[in-house]
Order: sequence, then structure tokens, then C-alpha cells
Amino acid sequence: MDNRPIGVFDSGLGGLTFVKELKTIMPNEDIVFFGDTGRVPYGTRSRETIEMYARQDEEFLLSKDVKIIVAACGTVSSVAPNTADDLPVDFLGVVKPTAKAAVNATKNGKIGVLGTPATIKSGAYNKELLKLDRTLSITGVECPLFVPLVEEGLINRDDQITILAAERYLKSIISAGADTVILGCTHYPLIASIIGDILGEGVTLISAGGATAHECKSIIEQKGLQTDRTTGGSYSYYVTDRPENFANTAKLFLQEEVSEAVSRVHVG
Ligand code: DGL
Repeated sequence: MDNRPIGVFDSGLGGLTFVKELKTIMPNEDIVFFGDTGRVPYGTRSRETIEMYARQDEEFLLSKDVKIIVAACGTVSSVAPNTADDLPVDFLGVVKPTAKAAVNATKNGKIGVLGTPATIKSGAYNKELLKLDRTLSITGVECPLFVPLVEEGLINRDDQITILAAERYLKSIISAGADTVILGCTHYPLIASIIGDILGEGVTLISAGGATAHECKSIIEQKGLQTDRTTGGSYSYYVTDRPENFANTAKLFLQEEVSEAVSRVHVG
């Protein structure tokens, strides 16, 4: 039994799609969420910078006495998982659980991976997928426009600019005949309906948040780190830029009102 909170971080607020899933399956756990909104995006930056940011984000969560740290960020999980090597608590990124879920879902062995430029260039998803099944055929696509489009709130099924970007990015995945597509960035679930419309019904979308929330639950249970609270967890939110619009943006990712206060902090 362990009543310390679960620590979650992301480069921005996309990681709240993971928090949404985790709250549903572990409703009694406290969660501390840190979104580095002052430095988002990470996905277009160098490995050295992403590693430095990830270390600072992890340090911040450790200062909140968390029992496990989840990098709810495709970019950090792909590029900088090594930053967790010396952590005194368990660490979980999104790549492994998401790759596992995709391998379980595919029937034709053809998997598409959508991610930030840094995620795709790192080859982390390819490596993890091929570790699970050497015969897979994988098509990775860098989607640099998706994060700004989501952050701008252009997420409606009829937002033409997002549809155009998605049509362009999905071309190679459609030609490759993938039946399963990984949304390898925690921002992408918000445009899942646009991506799904273009790919068609026969293609399964795997969101990094859902698969990772289930893995987080099983690590906590295996290690006996569950809370003994039964009355519901509490949530704390920290960001590194102005918190004024947090409640509105967070609502998009969490799909519910955010009543808790958000605090602005400085890291690094
Ligand atoms: N949330 C980040 C990810 O999952 C995307 C935003 C960024 O580029 O920092 O990769």
C-alpha cells in the first residue's frame, strides 16, 4: 500500500489524455500532473535538449514525492527514456505499452506510426515493435503540424486545415495497407475522428494514453503500490507558462471540467 501520488509529465497538456484514462481505471489514486507549457513543443528539438528538459521534469515530480513517474509524452518516451535510469522510483514511458497494444491488434502485420519528428527519427517505436514481432512491416510518419493544430483547437471533424494535413500525412500509411495505426503522441487522440475518417473503419487506432494507463495500473498492482483510499483521488496540476487558459484547454484533453487549481512553477 502506498498513498503517494502518481507523477505524470508531458511537454504540454497532451499528456492529460493519459490522465483521463488513468482516472477512469484508478479512481482512488492521487495524480500530480506537470505540463511544460512554457517550453512545448519538445518534438522538434534536439536529443540533448529533450534529455535536459526530461531530467528537469522528472526532478520536479520527485520533489512532489511521487511513487512512480509516467512520461505521458511520445517524444520523451522515444528520445530520452535513459533519463529515468537513475530515478529512485519506477518509470514508465508510452512506447512499450503502445507497441504491445498495436501488435495485439494487427491482423495483417502492417502497422503505421504517427509521431512528432523527434519520435519518428528516434526509431523507438520500430525497435520496440520489431522486438515483439520481427516480421512486422512498419510505416512511420513525422507529423509536425498536428501538435500546433491541436493546440489551436482545430480538432473538429470538419476543420479543413487539419483534414488536409492528415490526408497528406496518412498517404504512405494508406498505400502500405496498415490495418493498425499508433497515435504515438499524446496530443493526437483529439484528432482521432479526423484520422479515423481518412483511414476508414477497417483500421484500428491505438492511442498511447489508453495502453499506458493499463500498464501503469498493472505495475502499481504488481508492486503493491496501490492506495488504500476508497473515496476518490485528488489531482494537482502544474504548468510552466501562464495558467489562465489551463481550465479551457485541459477540458479538451480530459473531456471534463477541471475544478482544481493550477499552479505555475519554474523548472531548470
Ligand atoms: N506531447 C508530445 C508528444 O507526445 C507532443 C508535443 C511535443 O512535441 O512536445 O510527443
